Amino acid sequence: MPLVIAMDGPSGSGKSSASRGVAAALGLRYLDTGAMYRAMTWWMLVNGVPVEDAGAVAARSLEPVLESGTDPAAPTITVDGADVSGPIRSREVTNAVSAVSSVPAVRARLVALQREIIGIGGIVVEGRDIGTVVAPDAQVKVYLTASEEARALRRAQDPAADPGASVTLTLAEQARRDRLDSTRTASPLAKAADAHEIDSTELGLGEVIEAVVRLAKETG
Ligand code: DC
Repeated sequence: MPLVIAMDGPSGSGKSSASRGVAAALGLRYLDTGAMYRAMTWWMLVNGVPVEDAGAVAARSLEPVLESGTDPAAPTITVDGADVSGPIRSREVTNAVSAVSSVPAVRARLVALQREIIGIGGIVVEGRDIGTVVAPDAQVKVYLTASEEARALRRAQDPAADPGASVTLTLAEQARRDRLDSTRTASPLAKAADAHEIDSTELGLGEVIEAVVRLAKETG
């Protein structure tokens, strides 16, 4: 069975860099499921769908055509054929994505797409519910955390982040998103019972990658 590595955790825990590094080190594909929820949210905003109206979001959730490129060296995301990798990182999308991703119809559609992609072969998948819902049979499950301050600092320093977002603002918006993501009824952010927790507050990226690669090698 192809190797599936599930990388879950809150925003700013270093999931994306670590997941891409692990995929590159092991010759696996890479899937950023957060980018899919962001792309769906971007489409809703562009089409004037009121994102706080779960019924309205659900009614349109089958319309956008999403495609994820899984090369860890150059992951891509398109909506209806257009590259949206820049716009999905805007603050507008970041602040609306929790509402859209809490809608069960959105999750059902994106989880089905994610499982299709995972089914093709070995892959590192990052998200919030990968080890619990999307790929409960993944051979390696990691729950990556870091202190709130370390996470906000990383997000504010991310080259893809909105340049207008200070650390203080990022911290406040992050706390709000964490709360929404972990208290929603549909597949909340949660650590799978069999996940290995890695706290990256004091670890460099290389150390996190090494720890996950070691876990993968231990599974044989
Ligand atoms: O990882 P990220 O910050 O790009 O994710 C954006 C949002 O998408 C996050 O606030 C919660 C949602 N998300 C989700 O609900 N389930 C996932 N598997 C991945 C992301």
